[in-house]
Amino acid sequence: MTEAGGPRVVVARHLLPAGADLLERYFEVVSGGLDADRERLLALLPGADAIVADPTVPVDEEVLEAAGPGLKLVANFAVGYDNVDRAACAGRGVVVTNTPDVLTDATAELALGLTVAAARGICAAERSLRAGGWSGWDPADYRGIELSGATVGIVGMGRIGFRYGRLMAGFGGEILYTSRSPKPQAEAELGAVRADLPRLLAESDVVSLHLPATAENRHLIDAGAIGRMKAGAILVNTARGSLVDSQALAEALAGGRIAAAGLDVFEDEPRVPAALLEAPGIVLTPHIGSATYRARDAMAVLVARNVISVLDGEGPLNEVPPPSGQR
Ligand code: GLV
Repeated sequence: MTEAGGPRVVVARHLLPAGADLLERYFEVVSGGLDADRERLLALLPGADAIVADPTVPVDEEVLEAAGPGLKLVANFAVGYDNVDRAACAGRGVVVTNTPDVLTDATAELALGLTVAAARGICAAERSLRAGGWSGWDPADYRGIELSGATVGIVGMGRIGFRYGRLMAGFGGEILYTSRSPKPQAEAELGAVRADLPRLLAESDVVSLHLPATAENRHLIDAGAIGRMKAGAILVNTARGSLVDSQALAEALAGGRIAAAGLDVFEDEPRVPAALLEAPGIVLTPHIGSATYRARDAMAVLVARNVISVLDGEGPLNEVPPPSGQR
């Protein structure tokens, strides 16, 4: 094991104590802080052996160059890694790791929560109550959509999509999914049916996104895709904001084209477009998919374990592969 004060680990923003305490036993650790801007990060980087990043920290050529030739690892505090230029890392022999598995339950549970909240208008009903708008029990008031028997469309049947499917299976409806490859476990256990995106959009009462963001799938859910959804359907996004054209979604909600949406992620976080803030039938949360005590601590530990393992020469525990053909 390496001695404390040896290799330099730069935490771009902030690592929870569950991980930071581990790293500090073995390495010199410096952190930019939650409000670190690009300039501060670039100033901290020279001589870094490892960078701990998060989804808000773009890791590109400039960052890698600032760290210098000793950089061995970019450890991302997230399962997603669209903030990391993997090709640039591969070009410099820098390993990239992420934090899968430990946040699967938390994120799927939030997707379930957003689904129910959007279907039943829970947040709007609460706002109305708090604002004194509840004048008494009214059979016609605050009516929402029932999920029992609803067809659920899961776009991306990876770990989180599968867990969400298991949770949603409790409502007893059919489950459709898209995936690059068939998912026998989801088919056997949930009776899930693999479909192409147009069919999934056309047949689902709930469409929930669970796929990584790439340059190719930016605005996968655009005006055309929303136009294919069932009237009265619900869209849920706990994956990445770039998957959905916010303006098109806001217009579809305003025009009553679809009934509701639950969003945890946005195109230009932390900014949320006014059109979404004002759209009817929408529930918005501030990128809290993995924000449980258990998941966030486990993510911090996993980041630290990846850093320790790579800097000790034992290789990464959760390597994100470089773009195809670039090893
Ligand atoms: C969070 O957004 C993650 O990708 O883990």
